[in-house]
Amino acid sequence: MSNRTFTMIKPDAVANGHSGKILDHIIQAGFKVVALKYTKLTQEQAGAFYTVHKERPFYGELVDFMTSGPIYAAILEKDNAVADFRDLIGTTNPKEAASGTIRNLYAKSIDANAIHGSDSDENAAIEGNFFFSSFERF
Ligand code: RTP
Ligand code: MG
Repeated sequence: MSNRTFTMIKPDAVANGHSGKILDHIIQAGFKVVALKYTKLTQEQAGAFYTVHKERPFYGELVDFMTSGPIYAAILEKDNAVADFRDLIGTTNPKEAASGTIRNLYAKSIDANAIHGSDSDENAAIEGNFFFSSFERF
């Protein structure tokens, strides 16, 4: 079990002004935000980030959506970070997301679903390294 995960506040949530509330939600749930970056993905970056889905029918729309506006990328620390963060954000389809989860509160559709959370320790490390070459430890 690793204590680190990776997240992105997606373009819909940034555009809707939800970034601050979502970051506060994450911090109040016990996660430390140990790296944070405001950035905008290129088609190449988004394509590479979601390359695991490249054969899926929604891949093109996913890449277009993730490049449609700025995002926040962050590395988060907490015991059992990957699983606890997936619980905090809720299911992929916000219509099925449990009450009080970030996608329940802030997401509108399965495409514009407000937030990303890594799905394994291995992917958390790969995804964090995709955005951050180093960060301070306190
Ligand atoms: P994410 O990677 O963004 O945190 O989302 P996730 O693990 O909950 O879902 P994943 O299966 O990794 O899918 C990545 C994103 O692709 C879109 N998607 N659309 N139309 C569909 O059936 C479908 N399935 C997935 C979602 O926007 C999802 O966040
Ligand atoms: Mg995923």
